[in-house]
Amino acid sequence: IVPMSSPLEAPTTSRNIKRVGSVKQQLSRLVKESLESLFPDEVQPIVAACQAKFGDYQCNNAMVIWSQLKGKATQFKNPNSIGQAIAKNLPESEMIESTSVAGPGFVNIELSNKWISKHIQNMLVNGIEQWAPILSVRRAVVDFSSPNIAKEMHVGHLRSTIIGDTLARMLEFSNVEVLRRNHVGDWGTQFGMLIEYLFEQFPNWEDAGDQAIGDLQAFYKASKKKFDDDPDFKARAQQAVVKLQSGEGKYRHAWQKICEISRKEFDLVYQRLNVQLEEKGESFYNPYIRGVLEEFERNNLIKESEGARVVEIDGYDIPLIVVKKDGGYNYASTDLTCLWYRLKEEKAEWIIYVTDVGQQQHFHMFFSAARLIGWLPASKDAYPKVSHVGLGLVLGSDGKRFRTRSSEVVRLVELLDEAKDRSRAELIKRLEDNGKITDWTDAELESTAEAVGYGAIKYADLKNNRLTNYTFSFDQMLNDKGNTAVYLLYAHARICSIINKSSKDIEELKKASTCMSWKINTGIGKIVLDHVDERALGLHLIQFAEIVEEACANLLPNVLCEYLYNLSEMFTGFYTSCQVHLMFSFLDMIQAHSQLLHISVQMNVKSVNAMVDTGVTHTFVSA
Ligand code: ARG
Repeated sequence: IVPMSSPLEAPTTSRNIKRVGSVKQQLSRLVKESLESLFPDEVQPIVAACQAKFGDYQCNNAMVIWSQLKGKATQFKNPNSIGQAIAKNLPESEMIESTSVAGPGFVNIELSNKWISKHIQNMLVNGIEQWAPILSVRRAVVDFSSPNIAKEMHVGHLRSTIIGDTLARMLEFSNVEVLRRNHVGDWGTQFGMLIEYLFEQFPNWEDAGDQAIGDLQAFYKASKKKFDDDPDFKARAQQAVVKLQSGEGKYRHAWQKICEISRKEFDLVYQRLNVQLEEKGESFYNPYIRGVLEEFERNNLIKESEGARVVEIDGYDIPLIVVKKDGGYNYASTDLTCLWYRLKEEKAEWIIYVTDVGQQQHFHMFFSAARLIGWLPASKDAYPKVSHVGLGLVLGSDGKRFRTRSSEVVRLVELLDEAKDRSRAELIKRLEDNGKITDWTDAELESTAEAVGYGAIKYADLKNNRLTNYTFSFDQMLNDKGNTAVYLLYAHARICSIINKSSKDIEELKKASTCMSWKINTGIGKIVLDHVDERALGLHLIQFAEIVEEACANLLPNVLCEYLYNLSEMFTGFYTSCQVHLMFSFLDMIQAHSQLLHISVQMNVKSVNAMVDTGVTHTFVSA
């Protein structure tokens, strides 16, 4: 991520909340000041969160600086003394409780509890949006899902749909305008064969509904077989392509019909997953290909090779074919043109493609071609920028590509429905065991089963590093223990139930916590981090911003998953050691004891006792 101005500057959001940046950025600003006071040359601060026993954050500049000073006259004896100096010269700040210097100059920084509390309070009252990372791009394209018309939409496309949607959401959260693009494979020679087959098998296809064609995948297979077996058919199919591409009405109409049927099937998946996508398929870019290739010709970038027109790319043995031997265009010519359109017409600054890693070479080659012609800067990190987000395979329990038992491609709608059905069955079983089934309406059962079932599939995919292959297992993803969506939903439900039982209105609590006079007089609304588990949870909460930043910069949703899982675990730790349930039995008594209690989402036993003793409420508000 290239920061908008300087990484350490604080722009304001549209809502005019001053964006101070993540904890890491704020600490970096302090370290930078210290470094400036010590060294004439500019040194970029190196600050990172660290394991609890070393403090909360660490500045790791000393060793690097020491190695740069080698052979030069310096006041410093060793890296440790550089660390000491950095610590000593940190400006006065309410953020920092204490510092210490370890080993070869690591500066350990402990944050002040008071500052953490203030930070959480701020998050709670002003909303989480102000902690969105500050990115330099304003408009991005995320090209994801992108199945092929009439061919199967397989688990690889599902993975692209889930990960692509999450990347889009992360960027949108970071105030980037995202063009969500479904680059469907809706153009190419296969349509000649499909159209010709349609005409033959369904002479009155124009009047017949979609059912006439039935299953498009079977239709594709049958037409392919005929294409391979019957030379006359093959010739007619090839003519059909020409007629389609020259825009002949009947052929275009048939093509539209086939696309329409595929689209309906894709939409069933998008609806279930609540994914928004705008279809701009390969056919959309077709009219622009000629002009784009002419630009390449004018720049002498196209050569002839074995009858084809190609662009030679450094580092590859084979060239990028942009016009096939038969004069037709291909995947690469379309993608090159599509990139031109996204850069020049749509003015996107970051273009992200989400597909299986198998396509990496294709992407790298046409990215290189775009660099050759000067559409993209020479440096891969500069903007406008392109990124291929490669995905590993989805495997079955046998370690092979995920398929059905009869080794067919799994129909995605059926896969999603199975997750939902399984979670509904489990839910019903549990409700029956507790004698609570009669409290639930069908609609409630349905929506809960959807949340759990679809959520489980999404999370199982997102939590893995996207580059690794992952094994699809309903049993694992629907487990209520371990790192699963079910566990996270459970942790969330538990927090909601605590809030419900407290019978407090959260909005009221927020208001109370901003009321200065109460704070001064009584401490009400103040978040007090007394217990170690309370502090650990608090610290984790304020690290949200830097985690989103990292996830966006590296396009890795699993970073966000890990954060969320740890957050749930820490909440559980906090909940267990701070005995919230015990606290609730005191709640009524406490309310009666003190009219001052306006905020009581979370309190630990120690705080409750202190409050009873002094009449002052110490509360932890779970953000
Ligand atoms: N249709 C392709 C496939 O199914 C994916 C397209 C990805 N996007 C792109 N601009 N090439 O593999």
